[in-house]
Amino acid sequence: MNTKKHTITAALPYANGALHLGHLAGAYLPADIYARFLRLQGKDVVFVCGSDEHGAAITIRAKQEGRTPQDIIDTYHNLNKETFERLGISFDQYDRTSNPLHHKTAQDFFKKLVEKGDEFEVKESEQYYDEAFDQFLADRYIIGTCPKCGHKEAYGDQCESCGTTLSPTELIEPRSTMSGKKPVLRKTKHWYFRLDKHGEWLKGWVNNGTVDGKKLHDPATWKAHVIGQCNSWLEKKVNKETGEESGGLLPRAITRDLTWGIPVPVEGGEGKVLYVWFDAPIGYISATKQWALENNKDWESYWKGDDVELVHFIGKDNIVFHCIVFPAMLHAHGDYALPKAVPANQFLNLEGRKFSKSKGWVIEQHEYLKDFEAFPNKEDALRYALIRTLPENKDGDFKWDEFVALHDNELVANLGNLVNRVINLTQNYYQGEVPAADASIRIKDVEEGTTTTLGEATKVLLTKVELLEACILKYEFKNGIQALMDISAYANVLLQRNEPWKVWKGAPDSDLVKGIMNLSVQIATILSVASQPFLPFTSAKLRNLLALEPLQAGDFEVLKEVLRDGGDLISAGHKINPPELLFAKINDRKDKSRLALIDLQKEKLEVLKKKMAAAKAQEEKEPEAIKKACTFDDFTKIDFRVGTITAAEKIKKAKKLLKLTIDLGFETRTVVSGIALHYEPEAIIGQQVTLVANLAPREMMGIESQGMVLMAENKEGKLIFVGPQELAINGGAIR
Ligand code: MF3
Ligand code: ZN
Repeated sequence: MNTKKHTITAALPYANGALHLGHLAGAYLPADIYARFLRLQGKDVVFVCGSDEHGAAITIRAKQEGRTPQDIIDTYHNLNKETFERLGISFDQYDRTSNPLHHKTAQDFFKKLVEKGDEFEVKESEQYYDEAFDQFLADRYIIGTCPKCGHKEAYGDQCESCGTTLSPTELIEPRSTMSGKKPVLRKTKHWYFRLDKHGEWLKGWVNNGTVDGKKLHDPATWKAHVIGQCNSWLEKKVNKETGEESGGLLPRAITRDLTWGIPVPVEGGEGKVLYVWFDAPIGYISATKQWALENNKDWESYWKGDDVELVHFIGKDNIVFHCIVFPAMLHAHGDYALPKAVPANQFLNLEGRKFSKSKGWVIEQHEYLKDFEAFPNKEDALRYALIRTLPENKDGDFKWDEFVALHDNELVANLGNLVNRVINLTQNYYQGEVPAADASIRIKDVEEGTTTTLGEATKVLLTKVELLEACILKYEFKNGIQALMDISAYANVLLQRNEPWKVWKGAPDSDLVKGIMNLSVQIATILSVASQPFLPFTSAKLRNLLALEPLQAGDFEVLKEVLRDGGDLISAGHKINPPELLFAKINDRKDKSRLALIDLQKEKLEVLKKKMAAAKAQEEKEPEAIKKACTFDDFTKIDFRVGTITAAEKIKKAKKLLKLTIDLGFETRTVVSGIALHYEPEAIIGQQVTLVANLAPREMMGIESQGMVLMAENKEGKLIFVGPQELAINGGAIR
């Protein structure tokens, strides 16, 4: 009996925000394809994930929004869990690190390492402290100027402008995000995990796959960029001039002076919590435990011993934690299996730029589902486009035009078209009953002028199915989905060559037509199985069209066996269901509704692009020189008054101008102002403004303008009103 256990993990997302398409393509979609495929192979699989609910990211978000951390994690845990389900990500367990079972698991893990005696060193060091708030500051709570690039808002752990990893004491002019004040250095004690002790075996493990002479994995199956990143952490660098060594693994603090997190469960740990990156990966273990509890399984058999195949799916920013820190923790603890592979992905971009939540340059998963509510098979349409652009070995780029092209030219034109033909022709010719056909029937083959038999075609199909399998098992999902589409393309070409629609007209009982139609239905059945890991919604619809049972664990093996034996996947006489469209073309001449959805998305990005360009131009603009000095007397000549806009209207033929009516309390003024590109007239009624009230009247577009409204500019280059901060008296002088 095969006792092998497959433990598949996908990085626990922080429960401080919604996930976007970059996350989906980075970790969750590849993990789902792999988990679904292994289940189809009949493997014993547990696929776990969950919310990462500790760490400063959560408490900062809570503070910004004036909410409690608990409120934040509940909101985003639920949103992310539900969105994953809607996209067909088939976790066996989506847990959360606030689960008491996880707290206990992480604390026990920590205590076990403490008992080992030499896995930690407890050290005092100086850390930034906010005296106004009476607390130590996590790295993220300190901002200051980046020593590398001069960016003024760099965080204590990283500068997001140039990407440099920092420590808080490197920041120039550090300030606390809590009080805004300069933090002071104070002594505090922390537990440092002795990563330095683990460097040697980790090197061997990553590069050769062996630990203590035992072969654990084949490094040829690891991605080059993953091994490369590991080595840059593992290798010491020697400065050629000074001979000084740097780099290599150093002890790493895994406790923090915070209140939000898992309390450090040993003496001296009062007021401290475990570092979020210590507890989060243990979350994979806790999630497995929770699942085992609910499903009457033995969690340990999925984590310990030689029969475990652990695979971590992550994005490249998590490599060090999954290939170095967590394996070292597992090894230090003892009994745990090490990951068999960590097929980390690179990043996905959106229309050529990095996803940026703060700039709005994102497509969030749940937003996509909402915006594409009315779009048929929206889940698989997205899955398909993402799988075709997976950033497996280099960064990928998601583009809306490509989304349309992939959908219309591949999903619709290849897969959808084949299924339509098969279902329709079978209905038309045989009232939906799969025609009987002999394996020796000869049909035209793909190559012009050659022929093949149904039996030989089945063998060809077997090799195609095996190719798909090999790709998935090598974590090459992009190639895997190509292999899937190749099966469908093969069937389309055979139909095209043999033209059953022509033969049937003259000879409705033709064996050739029966043969090609039987083969086509068999191929549709293959597709209903082989597509499931990639396109689960399409697969289910196809099973339904073919009137076949939903797929079960092990069905992929059954498929290969039947193909090997040259048997039927779907037997003659089986009655399939009436046709139904799997996909609807986006770029459809008759129905523009789907193209309109795409155009809306493109417009959104165009608006953002303009905003970002304006913000950048603003940032790079030379400061305006101060004008020549004027005397106090000069200045007092100008009469500034408060006024309220009571009416506003566009001016014909003047795109930039609005005609404003301004109430000064004792009189009303008409003012022509160049703000029409920045405000809709209705939106500014009631706005209090500063009016230059004694400016000599001037005629503009045939209107006498009786004053001028003061405006400033914001980061995006938008004009904003300069008025009193509180309601002031209209007509009141400003001095
Ligand atoms: N929350 C982390 C992130 O989003 C990932 C944690 S993965 C785990 O970057 F291994 F720690 F769980
Ligand atoms: Zn920087």
